[in-house]
Amino acid sequence: MSEPLPIAVLVSGTGTNLQALLDTVHGREAKIVAVASSAAGVAALDRAAARDVPTRVFARGDFESRAARDETMAAWLEQRGARLVVLAGYMELLGDSFLERFPAGVINVHPSLLPAFPGLGAIEQALAYGVKVFGVTVHFVDGGVDTGPVILQRALELPDAREPTEVLAALRPLEHALLPQVVRLFADGALAPDPGNPRRMLIDPQAHVVGEG
Ligand code: GAR
Repeated sequence: MSEPLPIAVLVSGTGTNLQALLDTVHGREAKIVAVASSAAGVAALDRAAARDVPTRVFARGDFESRAARDETMAAWLEQRGARLVVLAGYMELLGDSFLERFPAGVINVHPSLLPAFPGLGAIEQALAYGVKVFGVTVHFVDGGVDTGPVILQRALELPDAREPTEVLAALRPLEHALLPQVVRLFADGALAPDPGNPRRMLIDPQAHVVGEG
């Protein structure tokens, strides 16, 4: 088996997606070498510490600008050897200079079927619209808000949902399956842009994880 892929995970809150990564791919296909948080005192930091993963807080207010925050955070992640950056409930925007530092990739999990309902409050936006099918997207991050190429998506019919908490609880298992699955595909080198449409990610049909989860 090849060496685990060194990855960094960026968080802002509860960290259940980080936990899913710690419980599945960490120490196997990937090694989480750093967890960076936009906020102090969040549960995600405790989850990382419980597995002896180095953590740091990069709060926007502690820096002169977002660019300065991005620069310091990118330098730490590079120093830790991260090749892939995973946004797992990271609620801040990253500038182009950060993205350029990680050309192999930055991926994000988002609780809607993109391009519907990008940005903050995706589940609230979907409920307000009145949709009956919800879902989860894992995508590469580009300079826009949740606009990068889609890697995997999964939909869930919830025709009677009324409360964001109810939808989030139903989407959680999908997120926790899809995000590790994408990390495995990435580590396997199984993701490539479609030459005919670079926004469309092709998944190597030989990859052993396709269809799992
Ligand atoms: C997840 O539902 C994730 O999809 C969402 O934040 C939650 C974080 O939960 N991300 C976004 O909305 C990004 N725009 P977690 O901290 O328990 O992983």
